[in-house]
Formats: sequence, structure tokens, C-alpha cells
Amino acid sequence: MIRVGVLGYGYWGPNIVRNFHAQEQAEVVLVCDKSLKAGERLRRVYPTIPFTTDENEILRSAKVDAVCVITPVATHYSLAKRALENGKHVFVEKPFTCSSGQAEELIELADRKNLKIMVDHTFLFTGAVRKIRQLVDEGAIGRLFYYDSLRVNLGLFQHGVSVIWDLAPHDLSIMDHIIRVKPEGVVAAAEKHLNEVEDIAFISIYFPDRVIAHINVNWLSPVKVRTMLIGGEKKMLVWNDLVSDEKIKIYDKGVTLTDGKGVHQLLVSYRSGDMWSPQIEQVEALTEEATYFVHCIMQNQKPLTTESMSCALCAFLRQWTNPSATGEKR
Ligand SMILES: NC(=O)c1ccc[n+]([C@@H]2O[C@H](COP(=O)([O-])OP(=O)(O)OC[C@H]3O[C@@H](n4cnc5c(N)ncnc54)[C@H](O)[C@@H]3O)[C@@H](O)[C@H]2O)c1
Repeated sequence: MIRVGVLGYGYWGPNIVRNFHAQEQAEVVLVCDKSLKAGERLRRVYPTIPFTTDENEILRSAKVDAVCVITPVATHYSLAKRALENGKHVFVEKPFTCSSGQAEELIELADRKNLKIMVDHTFLFTGAVRKIRQLVDEGAIGRLFYYDSLRVNLGLFQHGVSVIWDLAPHDLSIMDHIIRVKPEGVVAAAEKHLNEVEDIAFISIYFPDRVIAHINVNWLSPVKVRTMLIGGEKKMLVWNDLVSDEKIKIYDKGVTLTDGKGVHQLLVSYRSGDMWSPQIEQVEALTEEATYFVHCIMQNQKPLTTESMSCALCAFLRQWTNPSATGEKR
């Protein structure tokens, strides 16, 4: 059994406790939160799981093998580092850290101590993303043209991190998982309207072979939208994560260009065929993820999401330093 200690029992922590506690090969042995109210909430659901307000009880305990860091981002680096230094495997929330330097340091530290560190990129474990990756890998979409993601809603404003650091890690991790090529360039524009952090951002990412990605994240939208488009040479895909049925639709649509005879004119023809919606596995992503993390520890494998952090996400983070973490904006 992997004995898990969970730091942070706010909004997301209860999902982590529930999913790790339900694992066959893991059990949650201790939960810590700075707030006593969190302890009351934990006791109502899991009267047998001990609670503490002292993080050291988890970080230094000989009875804890792995630590889940489910606290605000500013605390991720120091808590994860202390956990690794004390010989614990680490499951840490997105965004991993406040800078790519901190992220790389933690990955190196884990490697040196032969410990696992994994970032909770929840979407990679959803049935929808797994299906999209499968379709792209099988060549059903054809050569990729673009990836375009819209992730907007009103609030929830986070303390200390901008909308990029709060929402875009989801898109960057999905994009990284699907495109799987190192980006060549990133251009980002963002603005702050209400306080000291950006609440709207437009990010363009350039890949080799003219593959282009765009991510629009926004806390000031009147409506909630979670839609992603992937355009390819053969097919086009739309994923709407807010609907319960037919989340993914594949359109047999496209454009063909041919030279006009005798005249220097391009002839454009549009293909508009069937639309179909593939079956998506109904799984709770966090259940799969907890199983995977435990599996990585037991089989001594490097978790996938730490690997992908070193690709697109890190390249992006290098270009856009978290203003709240450094006090400066680029
Ligand atoms: N993967 C996802 O889809 C997803 C969804 C929501 C939140 N998150 C991430 O989870 C993390 C937490 O977000 P949240 O919305 O639950 O925040 P939250 O503010 O609701 O909860 C954080 C909790 O951590 C506690 N805390 C702070 N410092 C602590 C410490 N040193 N030791 C123990 N407890 C401490 C706070 O008291 C609070 O209860 C963030 O990094 C966020 O980005 C991920």
C-alpha cells in the first residue's frame, strides 16, 4: 500500500482525497489544511482519516510515502521540495510552480532521489482527450493545421496567479499531449482590468510545419465556454466539454486547391461530408490519474505529465514569467 498524505483540503483537495482513498493500492493516512473548518469538513465525510494543521506532520512522517500538494500555487514549490527532500513521492497541482526554473529543479531533485513527481494535468486522463489523441495518432484527422481553444467564464479570480497560470495549463497540457512537437515560438498578449493580475489573455503558439495553436483564456466572460477545435487536412474536430452527450464531433469538411486550366487562377473546392461523434469512455479522470500515479511509484516509471511539462509548457513558461511571482511583467 502507498500511504498518501494530502496537503490542502479547500475546493480541489476533497476530490484528491476521495480518489486516492478509493485506490486499491493506496490509502490516505493524513490530511493537512491550515483551516480548522477544512478539518470539520473532512471529519464529516471521512471520520477515520486523521487531520492536522501542521504540514510537518505529513512532510516529516515516516508513515507517509507520497504527498499530494493541493494548496495555492505560491506554496507548491516549497512544499513539494520539502516532501522530496524527506524522501516522499509528490503529486502536485497545476500550475506546477511559479517559474520554469523551480519546475526543472523539482524534476531534477526527484530524479536524483529516484522519487516520482507528477503534475495533476487532469484533462489528459479524460475520455475526451484520450479519444482525440487516438484519432490524431491513427491519422483520422490527417496532417494537423491548427489547434484552437476557448476557455472562458466569469471568475473565479484566483489569488496571486493570472488567468494564464490558472486556466492555460489545462490547454497547454492538452495541446502538448496531442501535438507532441516542441513549439518554435510563443506570442502572448494579456490585460488586467480589476486587480494586479491578468484576467484575459490570447496566446499563440507556433510549431514546425506551419502547425499553429491559439488559446483564449478569460475570467471576464459573461458565459462559460470550453470549446476546442482541431483542423486537419482530412477532418476537423470540435470538442465541447460542457455538453454531456456528443462532446466530440468530427466533421468531414475541408478545402482543396487546384490550379485553373490555362489561367493563373486557383480553384477552390470545399468538401462538406458527414459529421459523426465517437464514443467516449466514461471515466472520472482523477480516478485514472490516481491509479496511474500509484502505478508509476510501484513500477518505478517516470510519470507522463512530468515529461510533458518539459516540452510545450516549460517553453511557454520561460517566455512568460509569472508577474505575481516575480513582480515584473514581460
Ligand atoms: N486540476 C484541476 O482541474 C484543478 C481544479 C481546481 C484547482 N486546482 C488547483 O488546486 C490547487 C488548490 O486550488 P483550490 O481551488 O482547492 O484552492 P483553495 O484555496 O480552495 O484551497 C487551498 C487550501 O490549501 C490550504 N493551504 C494553504 N497553505 C497550506 C499549507 N501550507 N498546508 C496545508 N494547507 C494549506 C488552504 O487553507 C485552503 O484550504 C491550485 O493549485 C489550483 O490551481 C486544480
